[in-house]
Amino acid sequence: MPLVPVRDLLFDARERGYAVGAFNCNNMEIVQAIVGAAQAERSPVIIQASQGAIKYAGLEYISALGRLAAEKATIPVALHLDHGTSFEQVVQCIRHGFSSVMIDGSKLSFEDNVSLTLEVIKVARAVGVSVEAELGKIGGTEDDITVSEREVALTDPQEAKEFAERTGVDALAVAIGTAHGVYKGKPELDFDRLREISNLIDIPIVLHGSSGVPEEDIRKAVQIGVRKVNIDTDVREAFMEGVKEVLVSSPEEIDPRKVLGPGREKMEERIRLKMRIFGSSGKA
Ligand code: 13P
Repeated sequence: MPLVPVRDLLFDARERGYAVGAFNCNNMEIVQAIVGAAQAERSPVIIQASQGAIKYAGLEYISALGRLAAEKATIPVALHLDHGTSFEQVVQCIRHGFSSVMIDGSKLSFEDNVSLTLEVIKVARAVGVSVEAELGKIGGTEDDITVSEREVALTDPQEAKEFAERTGVDALAVAIGTAHGVYKGKPELDFDRLREISNLIDIPIVLHGSSGVPEEDIRKAVQIGVRKVNIDTDVREAFMEGVKEVLVSSPEEIDPRKVLGPGREKMEERIRLKMRIFGSSGKA
């Protein structure tokens, strides 16, 4: 079926109390693992592309892979820009068929973040594309974007309320203690803050930096109101686990398919587990 906007997926997730996984992709094997897992679990799914993915694979390849994967699938698939950096990039992604975009104005002042988000919403809504924004600063490194521990700022619930009212954005990423990349210690999520935000806003909440967050914490966050869970690092790890197993057991292997294929299988298994934790399995 054709790509669907993230907004539609999150609307159903809110109605039925689960979260949709948004998995980062960089190449064909990852896209196939994401959609293969979603098919096997009968789960809706979001394929997303970060700045690094666009740099590595090129926007044309990512969009073609995402659109093809959705067309072949019998479950709903969205193609989403992760951490969009500018109005221009958002327009390029829309032009290439993305069904959803994130505009990350979290490094800007509150007023400038509101203005940029509104500007993006105006053009995206005109063509049925949904928009995610970010308020507060999520820590860690994702590809080219790094937020140091000093810069991290958890989302202020009252600001979230005002931001939601003034923009009417389709999904809001909040900072509640997660970070992109590999955690050094156990992440401490601020559930009270999440609960307060969830009580104040009617917009689906997005959790970034969800790899490495304990299963029970993810379940709790979904119970409180998280409707989109972003996963990148865990999938990368699974990919490399499969690849390394082959390279260690058969160091002479020269067929890339025999190396990448097992990586794809490991990713699919890992993504299926995530979908069960998010509660999206069987919802498509
Ligand atoms: P992780 O790499 O921690 O899973 O974060 C992914 C993410 O939030 C993408 O926006």
